[in-house]
Amino acid sequence: MNKTTILALSCAIVLLGVAAILTSNPSAGIAAEKAGKAYKPGPGIDTHHLMEGVDATFSSIMDNAKKGGRKGFKAARHQAYALATLMDVLPHFESEEVTGAEKRAKWDKLSHQLRDEILAVGPVLKKKDGKGALALLEKAGKTCEACHEMRD
Ligand code: HEC
Repeated sequence: MNKTTILALSCAIVLLGVAAILTSNPSAGIAAEKAGKAYKPGPGIDTHHLMEGVDATFSSIMDNAKKGGRKGFKAARHQAYALATLMDVLPHFESEEVTGAEKRAKWDKLSHQLRDEILAVGPVLKKKDGKGALALLEKAGKTCEACHEMRD
């Protein structure tokens, strides 16, 4: 390889890197950051309270999906979107029980995974498929557990 070829190859690699950064998936990001504002939990907002809300909402979605009917499925669907939103902001929260870069990275990954799993329940509820929704929710419950297992 002569010098010109090496130079051309280096330029191509740099350009590919820039293209990869520019095209990286923004949907994996957080809604607030997309709007140009970094999210910071307000005073009195903490992981403990967030989790109590997450738990109550998760149970309600299951109850409403079991109840079914127009009202039940509609309520469950609205709650599913609210829960997905909580999961979208969960990476901005922390816990003394989950520390270290590796666990923190897993925290963010699991939050986003759960957000997507809960989001997927919405269209199933829209089709009034209670059984299908419950199966997806049961699977999502394993993602809750995966995060709790990281607690010391
Ligand atoms: C990415 C991590 C993570 C995910 C995902 C997660 N949790 Fe939690 N959860 C925690 C942490 C950390 C605590 C401890 C909070 C505290 O008290 O400081 C907790 C606590 C709880 C508690 C006990 C209440 C409390 O605060 O001690 C319940 C109940 C709970 N979670 C339910 C759920 C359910 C249901 C889901 C799934 C729909 C879920 N969690 C998903 C991290 C997570």
